[in-house]
Amino acid sequence: MSSGPRPLPRTPLLDWSSFTGARRAPGVHSIDDLGHYAVTTSGRAAIYQALLQLRLEPGSVVLVPTYHCPTMIAPVILAKLEVAYFAIRADGLPNLDTIDPATVSRARAILVSHYFGRARSLASVRQWCDEHRIALIEDCAHCYFGDAGERPVGTWGDFATASLTKFFPVPEGGVLVSARTPLATLALAPQGFKAQLKSWLDVLELAITHGRFAGINWLFAGLLQLKNHRHRAEISVPGEASATADNMLLASHMGRSDHAPVSATILLHEMLPRAAIVARRRRNFGIYVRHLAQLQGAHTLYDWPVEDSSVPYAFPLWVDDADGVYQGLREQRLPVFRWDRVWPGTPRITDDLGPSWSHHVLQFLCHQDLSEADVTRTALATRRLLSQSRTSAPSILQ
Ligand SMILES: Cc1ncc(COP(=O)(O)O)c(C=O)c1O
Repeated sequence: MSSGPRPLPRTPLLDWSSFTGARRAPGVHSIDDLGHYAVTTSGRAAIYQALLQLRLEPGSVVLVPTYHCPTMIAPVILAKLEVAYFAIRADGLPNLDTIDPATVSRARAILVSHYFGRARSLASVRQWCDEHRIALIEDCAHCYFGDAGERPVGTWGDFATASLTKFFPVPEGGVLVSARTPLATLALAPQGFKAQLKSWLDVLELAITHGRFAGINWLFAGLLQLKNHRHRAEISVPGEASATADNMLLASHMGRSDHAPVSATILLHEMLPRAAIVARRRRNFGIYVRHLAQLQGAHTLYDWPVEDSSVPYAFPLWVDDADGVYQGLREQRLPVFRWDRVWPGTPRITDDLGPSWSHHVLQFLCHQDLSEADVTRTALATRRLLSQSRTSAPSILQ
């Protein structure tokens, strides 16, 4: 076990403060507002369920971005559909001109993500989809809240999907929504008593591990010990599997895509107030901007006035020496991701920014249960790593 400071939480945590504050953030739209709504076990399960709603012929083509995490692609494979890729532009939107006409004619759906919570207008994508009779799945995993240009998030797509674990202290969860079309009933298998109990204990355990519920955490110690004793035998630690499509599908944990979400997810998602979530995420984003926006060897990915109507998932930073800096951040167990596990067979497309983003863009989490001190610590560690990488780099002109 490595010593040193406690790892920072990678997801929101349940605590007393989760229950405080106003129900809504004034003037901030959210996925909550959309008319037709179903809770799933994850964002990836919601994408899978969106594809099922479309009732596509097996083998139909679904367009996906070259910049992705495997959980965006796995649902397409699970639904027995064919994946085809589009390039991304500097603003993160699809470069639709990179899709050849033969693929367009076979495509029945496209998955478009609002990366990092920087939701953008999908007006031109919507128009293109209408012209080609292609269904738009708007992936709002990173933007539960906010506006996407002229419309609220989630309202451009025929369906939109979101990931609850990124925004709420729930053990699992996603949502499938539609602003206009009623959803066909989802055939979801209910989860048993053991899974329900375990999910509540998982929420508590994660919170207590990170020092939450001060004062009463001892109350749960016995229960958690019992849970871990019973489940230890079931835990298998995934190794560094080689990146075959089968391994990627396995590692994407799609197994519960047709399960109903547990009660902990439904209850907490329904009852927890939203205003503090919005405010703290914006605050955390602002701290990253202050510390990381103007540095040698790194730059913000794009201009993003967060207070204008978005609620960030992550602060995206382009880092020249991404390997060195990311490794240093991981060793310190800081809450930063890189999407460097690309689905096998992802093509190289001219002028596509996807591959360089997969390598150079680090995603600094902004979630509400990172304190100002946590975010500052992460930002300062990044600055140190950047300056070390400058002093150790060979002087090669780029
Ligand atoms: C853009 C995007 N879409 C979909 C997903 C899948 O969400 P979940 O982890 O809830 O399955 C993720 C997960 O990281 C994501 O980043």
